[in-house]
Amino acid sequence: MKDTAPQTIYLKDYTPFGFVVESVHLTFDLSPNATRVTSRIAFAPNPEATDHKFFLHGEELTLIKAAIDGQPVTPEITDEGLTCPVPDASFVWECEVEIDPQGNTALEGLYMSNGMYCTQCEAEGFRKITYYPDRPDVMSVFTVEIKGPHPVLLSNGNPQVQGEGHAIWHDPWPKPAYLFALVAGELVAHSDSFATCSGKTVDLNLYVRAGDEGKCAFGMEALKKSMKWDEEVYGREYDLDVFNIVAVDDFNMGAMENKGLNVFNSSAVLASPETATDANFERIEAIIAHEYFHNWTGNRITCRDWFQLCLKEGLTVYRDSQFTSDLRSAPVKRISDVIELRARQFPEDQGPLAHPVRPESFQEINNFYTATVYEKGAEVIGMLKRLVGDADYARALDLYFARHDGQACTIEDWLQVFEDVTGRDLTQFKRWYSQAGTPRLSVREEWNDGTYTLHFAQSLAASASTSDPQPQVIPISLGLLGPNGDEVHATETLELTEATQSFAFEGLAAKPIPSILRGFSAPVVLDREVDTAERAFLLAYDTDPFNRWEAGRALARETLMNMATSGAPAGADYLDGMLAVLRDADLDPAYRALMLGQPSQSELAAALAEAGTTPDPDAIWQASETLALTMAQHAQDVLPRILAECRVDGPYRPDPDQTSKRALGARALSLVTRLDGGTQAAAQYSAADNMTLQLSALGCLLAAGKGSEEVAAFYDQWQDDRLVIDKWFGMQIVQAAPDKAAAVAETLTEHPDFNWKNPNRFRATLGALVMNHAGFHAADGSGYRLLANWLIRLDPVNPQTTARMCSAFQTWRRYDSDRQSKIATELERIAGAPDLSPDTTEMVSRIRDA
Ligand code: PHE
Ligand code: ZN
Repeated sequence: MKDTAPQTIYLKDYTPFGFVVESVHLTFDLSPNATRVTSRIAFAPNPEATDHKFFLHGEELTLIKAAIDGQPVTPEITDEGLTCPVPDASFVWECEVEIDPQGNTALEGLYMSNGMYCTQCEAEGFRKITYYPDRPDVMSVFTVEIKGPHPVLLSNGNPQVQGEGHAIWHDPWPKPAYLFALVAGELVAHSDSFATCSGKTVDLNLYVRAGDEGKCAFGMEALKKSMKWDEEVYGREYDLDVFNIVAVDDFNMGAMENKGLNVFNSSAVLASPETATDANFERIEAIIAHEYFHNWTGNRITCRDWFQLCLKEGLTVYRDSQFTSDLRSAPVKRISDVIELRARQFPEDQGPLAHPVRPESFQEINNFYTATVYEKGAEVIGMLKRLVGDADYARALDLYFARHDGQACTIEDWLQVFEDVTGRDLTQFKRWYSQAGTPRLSVREEWNDGTYTLHFAQSLAASASTSDPQPQVIPISLGLLGPNGDEVHATETLELTEATQSFAFEGLAAKPIPSILRGFSAPVVLDREVDTAERAFLLAYDTDPFNRWEAGRALARETLMNMATSGAPAGADYLDGMLAVLRDADLDPAYRALMLGQPSQSELAAALAEAGTTPDPDAIWQASETLALTMAQHAQDVLPRILAECRVDGPYRPDPDQTSKRALGARALSLVTRLDGGTQAAAQYSAADNMTLQLSALGCLLAAGKGSEEVAAFYDQWQDDRLVIDKWFGMQIVQAAPDKAAAVAETLTEHPDFNWKNPNRFRATLGALVMNHAGFHAADGSGYRLLANWLIRLDPVNPQTTARMCSAFQTWRRYDSDRQSKIATELERIAGAPDLSPDTTEMVSRIRDA
């Protein structure tokens, strides 16, 4: 643990490193508590730098010896690294350190998971492996020798020597240290190969623990599809002889794009029909694609410094969303992404953790792997593409790859290629990268003798990082419908650049109905008073699938807000509109399933708070329950037909067609359960031969207050499958009645399988409690207390996972003063925990001091 006060690092202070690294040779002598790492690094003065002070990062290392050009040296060592006098010319640094992988519970650097060695170096984990300039703008060619009694010894690049207890890997592509990886263990490979567009054969391996071989096929297919897609759509070919993926059980995030050796959380790659749900399969396909796509956007072109994180993450998220849209349904993907954005990014952008897509300062970089950097970062790229058009986007990307291959770049470099290709000035557009917060867009309409005018106004709340917000460039895709539902003005993208700006449409026969922000063309909040009749009209007629869904969503939101505040019952506009959609067999079932979904309870809490009403979590929960029951009654006659329509014959396949049917079937079953008390859900549970049907049935039963036998049977059936048992923990808590959720969670933390040091299990349990909105916000504070207790316990073991989960408290200012003071007490308690990590310290103080 560092005992220095937390330091703030600023983008404006960037300076290049004083040396270039010409080559790196590493040797690992593996041993659980005493691994020896020997490095031989060729340094040369960097002509582009002015400061030539020799500083190497290093943390939690025991230095055994060091030498320069063969002469022993005694460096000056601190908690953060070492310094040493060095020659004025090129020199070779050699050093040997000892590290303790077994004792490494933070899962950063070299650590052990179930007897297997693995590494996680992004962002700053390499400094826990050896002394090194651990910054992304220092790129070098690595050769890695591994000695250890393991059948599988892996590192980046191509294998040069592979023998008993010994392997040498060479990665010809210069890379920053954060992309370094090493894996050693008793693993089995699921192997395949891919022929690239230029005819090279790449060996593909997915390495897993014995017993998991049956869960590899889908991930491998997803990898091959990704490789092909990136060739076809972005012209990007793979560049090594092998591509390896390793599944590990203990991992802080989803996966990591290490060059040629991706390391995956086992939950993000392992799947079989019996153990994984359709949603798991889709997520795996997207994460495999994401990590693979990083090979070009992230690895071949990397980030100059960690402020530029969105350069690789925003672009790669954007690319993986295009991939999913191409393979599956584009409207369904877009709607799902917006649901996620509103659930995770909007609260961040509108609360104490708000920061720009490219932050300008940070204390702990690990705390900036956020929805803002990733998801809003991807939205910004989507807007850019919308503004310049598909053809210029493609030209700009070609130029980006041609100009910057092998470099560590900035957002300025990224925008420059767009300026060069289009001749546009993107100065104002760049504010999307520098201003925090979600812009609000208000609209007023005017109809005058055949001319329809929309008056827009944009505003952005000031925040700690954006004290004087300026207007942004907001692409507003818009269409107009005539009173009979025909489209009278096809989709056009308006560019709002001023604080207020008007757009007129002439020659119209009648006052049109506007469909604004089609495809969710900008990540903004649209403020517009619309009556329910107009929403119902758009729900029935909008030709834009996103906005059609959005109209239904807005109706649901307004209905629920009214129910929660005044108990007003749901109106016919909503109920009949939904019924019409549900009945429409021409619509994709997955799309109908999204339509039927309710806004989440925390989204409703946010909407109420925005409207000036203090949200009452119990009333919101009650409203959601009542609306579901009302909808079930209203749709009573069609539900049996929907269930029949959604039945899938033949063997399970996680393809769009079957997945779509099961998604709608699950919605229908949850409504039916409100009417039959669980008879059909119980029948589905016992007949299920795949996890999607089994788990959706269990969820329905638990939500109905039933299912205790099934819960026990589920455990007996799956107790040896850790990924399924994660679902077992989570489902019981997510579906618990609010007044029981914290108690259910607490009981589960006493279960012998609650292995809290495993991030997946910890999140499955405590993360599930946070997802149970009314349960987490129980008025007695039991939810807050339980989470705080466990965060305090986890922090010394795994600061990264602890810090991320603190965001559960980020919306605390929304709630009533009683709840606020209970949360404040817990935040104080966490902040006061002895030896709190810098990661958690930063998060708690940002949340608390807002
Ligand atoms: N770079 C990884 C990704 O987005 C995420 C990650 C960050 C994983 C930090 C581990 C640690 O694909
Ligand atoms: Zn990524």
